[in-house]
Amino acid sequence: MFVTVETAARTAPASVIVAIDGPAGTGKSSTSKAVAAKLGFGYLDTGAQYRAITWWMLANDIDVSDPQAIAVVVDKPVIESGTNPSAPTITVDGTDVSGPIRTQSVTSAVSAVSAVPEVRARITGLQRAIAAAAAPGIVVEGRDIGTTVLPDADLKIFLTASAEVRAARRSGELKGKEASDLVTTQAALAKRDAADSSRKTSPLAKADDAVEVDTTELTLDQVIECVVTLVEEKRNA
Ligand code: DC
Repeated sequence: MFVTVETAARTAPASVIVAIDGPAGTGKSSTSKAVAAKLGFGYLDTGAQYRAITWWMLANDIDVSDPQAIAVVVDKPVIESGTNPSAPTITVDGTDVSGPIRTQSVTSAVSAVSAVPEVRARITGLQRAIAAAAAPGIVVEGRDIGTTVLPDADLKIFLTASAEVRAARRSGELKGKEASDLVTTQAALAKRDAADSSRKTSPLAKADDAVEVDTTELTLDQVIECVVTLVEEKRNA
């Protein structure tokens, strides 16, 4: 049989794209990784990409309070994300930065760096290329995936949780790594959310067609189950 490129494109099963957005401490990463693993999909942590470019700026003594200084060098670092949900990776110029991008210095600077339009344009391009190459599907987690990066995603989820629960979860994650009490963590999260939600270019926001899931009273397993069910419903629709 003669299969043209057009028929092949029509008959190939389309890749499924799931966008999971929301503020820090809502269980986005744990949920996204587990959902991707269950469905045999790839997983992309877009926060890690913003952290990676921020790490590079700090390592190269770029003034992170100066958007112009950031914009000039934005194309220099080579940032690569590995999308296996069981072992996601992030490298800058070939170096594994999965540890350094979680330090307090990067966490404190990442909102400012990620608010620079040139940074968003660069990282958004990387994200779209990864999503376009994904098969049979990918779960992409972030802040602006459903609104800006992948507005045609097959399913959009927006995770929320109360400020207290988010701070408690984040404190638990940080335990043993960095000194942090609940009040300090809650204040730091509130500051980062405010910066991420109020920036001009693609702020943290729920897409109109996103399904909002309040995780305050739910266990991680319940959230995972809920998202997997939503994906399966979409696939069977
Ligand atoms: O998910 P995270 O906390 O690791 O993200 C770190 C920061 O990166 C977050 O404070 C804002 C930024 N970010 C963003 O601006 N857009 C995204 N899609 C993901 C993260």
